[in-house]
Parts: sequence; structure tokens; C-alpha cells
Amino acid sequence: MTIRSGQYVIPAMHAVEGAGFHVRRPFPTPNLPMVDPFLLLDHMGPQEHAPGRAEGAPDHPHRGFETVSYILEGAFEHEDSVGNAGRIGPGAVQWMTAGSGVVHSEMPATEIRTDGGTLHGFQVWVNLPAAAKMIPPKYQDVLARDIPEVVTDDGRVTVRVIAGDYDGTVAAARTHTPIAYWHVRLAAGASFRGALPPEWNAMVYVIRGEVAVGEAVAREADLVLLAPDGDEVAVGTGGDDAEVLVLAGLPIREPVARYGPFVMNTREEIIEAFEDYQAGRMGAITR
Ligand code: FE2
Repeated sequence: MTIRSGQYVIPAMHAVEGAGFHVRRPFPTPNLPMVDPFLLLDHMGPQEHAPGRAEGAPDHPHRGFETVSYILEGAFEHEDSVGNAGRIGPGAVQWMTAGSGVVHSEMPATEIRTDGGTLHGFQVWVNLPAAAKMIPPKYQDVLARDIPEVVTDDGRVTVRVIAGDYDGTVAAARTHTPIAYWHVRLAAGASFRGALPPEWNAMVYVIRGEVAVGEAVAREADLVLLAPDGDEVAVGTGGDDAEVLVLAGLPIREPVARYGPFVMNTREEIIEAFEDYQAGRMGAITR
């Protein structure tokens, strides 16, 4: 096995989403529009909200890709135009395939909006290949207890397998193209290794702490892009514990036309998405 080197360390930018919730966003940025097949990585919080202050993303559409929400602390409530409604609690994942189009809302849980509380989580956008962009919308709600967790032999590293497989442990969520999405917790002085195909794009995002990824050193809210020079990712910690996400996937290698909540292959398809949304063809949330 050969360890992939950390090629670039990219600090996340600050962005404001929806009705005004703050995120750290390593991409898309002007310098890094995407990491095929991933279109976006948002890190929400951890942030303590006063009563009446937690904002969300009220009714908005998506078409042509998947939104993957992973909540570490607090909870979100969602509703959509297909009639789904539910709650994503700590440790749970919602894998939403927007496909041909859906209108949804993503709001901090009612009790957090009313009484205040802490929110911490991630949203990743995963592109769909042209052949799957217009499939019917679909949800995979994965409860915390259904996300497999692997503890290494020395007990110092814990890996939650959100997508793909880690060392033979396979995630519950199904993906359209081959992807790995791991949440890795490392004790001080621990090191983690995971096999990844060399032709996959791969990255490590630091949730907290300081880590070494190959030769590169990265801190909280840094993204490390891995070079295609090996078949394994290695992450190590120093004197403190740390937490990272590992995201990797086979690139789709198709043209990307994106605007706001729509990600298609051509500009014409983006215009069509706006027309379909404005004409109500992506539906509406009935309340
Ligand atoms: Fe959304």
C-alpha cells in the first residue's frame, strides 16, 4: 500500500445560507469549484443559538444531484413537495436524491428555534451522472444506530461509515456512483489508514484538532486534497485528539452547469430547471 500525499491545504471560506445560517465552506469557492463527484461541502457550526435565533433554509428547490445531511449535534426538521417530513437527529444521515426536482425545507428543530441550542453538522452535495439527473426524487434516512462504526484494534480510532466501505464494513446508504464518506475520530497520537482507489478524487476535512495528512499539516476547517499517487489515505494526530471527514469518489467526468440549487450538464438544462420550478412543476410543500 502507498500513502497518498496531501497535495493542497485549502482553508474553508465563510458563507451564509438559506435565511441566514452561517457555514464554513471549503468548496465551492472561486479557486475550487468542485471535487468531482462532490459539488459542495458545508460545515454548519458548532454554534450555540439563542432562543428565536436559529435560522434554516425554508422552501427551496433542487434538481440534478443529491444532498447529504449529517448531523452531529442538535436536530433538523425537513419537509418536501413529495410529501416526506421528518427529523434528522444527532448521528443520523439524510441522503436525498433530488433527481428531476424537489422542493424542500431544512430547518433547525422546533425546540432549538424556540428555546435555543447547539447545531453542528454537514451538508455534502454529490453530483449525479447525466443518465440519473432526471430520476424520481428519493430519500434514504439512515438512523444513527444504522451507521456502522469501526473501532481499530488499538481502540484509538473510530470510523463511522456513512457511504462506501471501510476495511470491509459497508455503509447503509446506497450511492449512484462509487463514493466513500467516513467520519473519523482519532485519539491523541493515533493514526488512521484507509484504502482508497488511486483513480478516485479524495480529500480530508478537519472538523477539529490538528492532523498530518501525508506530509501536509492541517487544522480545523482546512480541506486537504490528496494527490493521485497512492492507494491509501493516512491521517495522524499529535498531542491532542482530532476529528476529520474523509470524502472520496470516482470522478463522473461530465460537463457541469450549475446555478444556485440546480446542477445539470448544460446551460439549457439549467434554464429548463428554472422554468419548471417557476411553473410549479417541482411541486410545493403542502402545509
Ligand atoms: Fe436544500
